Amino acid sequence: MKAMRIHEFGGPEVLKMEDIPVPQPAADEALVKVYASSINPVDWKIRGGGYKGKFPTPLPLTLGWDVSGVVEQVGADVKSIKPGDAVYGRPDVTRNGAFAEYIVVKADQLGLKPQNVDHITAAAIPLAGLTAWQGLFDHGQLQAGQKVLIHAASGGVGTFAVQFAKWKGAFVIGTTSEKNKTFLKELGADEVIDYKHEKFEEQLKNVDLVFDTLGGDTQRRSLAVLKNGGRLITTVKPEVLEEAKERNIHVEGYMAQSIPAQLKQIAQLVDDGIVKPVIYKVMKLEEAAEAQKISEEGHVRGKIVLQVV
Ligand SMILES: NC(=O)c1ccc[n+]([C@@H]2O[C@H](COP(=O)([O-])OP(=O)(O)OC[C@H]3O[C@@H](n4cnc5c(N)ncnc54)[C@H](OP(=O)(O)O)[C@@H]3O)[C@@H](O)[C@H]2O)c1
Repeated sequence: MKAMRIHEFGGPEVLKMEDIPVPQPAADEALVKVYASSINPVDWKIRGGGYKGKFPTPLPLTLGWDVSGVVEQVGADVKSIKPGDAVYGRPDVTRNGAFAEYIVVKADQLGLKPQNVDHITAAAIPLAGLTAWQGLFDHGQLQAGQKVLIHAASGGVGTFAVQFAKWKGAFVIGTTSEKNKTFLKELGADEVIDYKHEKFEEQLKNVDLVFDTLGGDTQRRSLAVLKNGGRLITTVKPEVLEEAKERNIHVEGYMAQSIPAQLKQIAQLVDDGIVKPVIYKVMKLEEAAEAQKISEEGHVRGKIVLQVV
């Protein structure tokens, strides 16, 4: 089968198309024929060696940790899904990913794909969707009527976060640049702040939750907008723990997990037309390196999907 793999860490040029054997599922795994995958910053961070020592990154490695496809075969112990099921999910980032024609995934990491969208749309969902869901609801404890500030609201994670927070009944404020302002309002944001020309900390106060996907200076400045007892949840490194403690603000970083019950809830929201995955560009599997270059520039609106079939 065709697979986009790396044998060493480095720039986009280390990503190569290869012909490798179709993997065989273990007793608790499914073999999935991949219809589409999508790009996430974790792909190029792993490719660049950025996660060496943080979690296992075995070489050679097939990249791509979003999948939408059809179950081809299941291991002896798998009862939750069967051959022919259309599934989607975020495979384990410490194992071979889905920039390939087939992938083996633990069956308990897959959910049934939303029925009303195609594989290209479904492949945009799992990693970014689960990250937004867990950041807002599991770690952020967001409730209806609360005020949430979502940074990089136009990004892969942010576009899901805006829609989930709105669905929950929160007052949603997003940061992005001028070109995405109208788009974010249409997506559901109540207020949009242009990070290039406005200072969010001068405009906001008494925010219940900041959902941060940027870190650094943005994370530090975010403390000023939070109410006493507020929460700052970050998908990157928590850098303001001491300062936050002094101001009675809870700061937490996390690594998103693959939770099928959440994939099911998200699929329902997509099938009901409440949440619409935002697709920036659809590219071919063989264009994975080019797609990663675009993602690395940091200005994608929504997701880049890689079409495999
Ligand atoms: N911990 C986890 O489990 C986990 C999971 C998923 C992602 N992450 C991490 O979370 C981060 C975000 O991921 P992503 O997929 O959402 O990224 P992304 O899609 O690449 O984000 C791109 C978006 O960020 C916006 N942006 C850039 N600089 C900004 C700024 N200073 N203020 C506001 N918006 C800004 C851009 O808008 P403009 O074009 O308008 O500039 C663009 O729309 C990454 O570092 C990723 O590795 C972690």
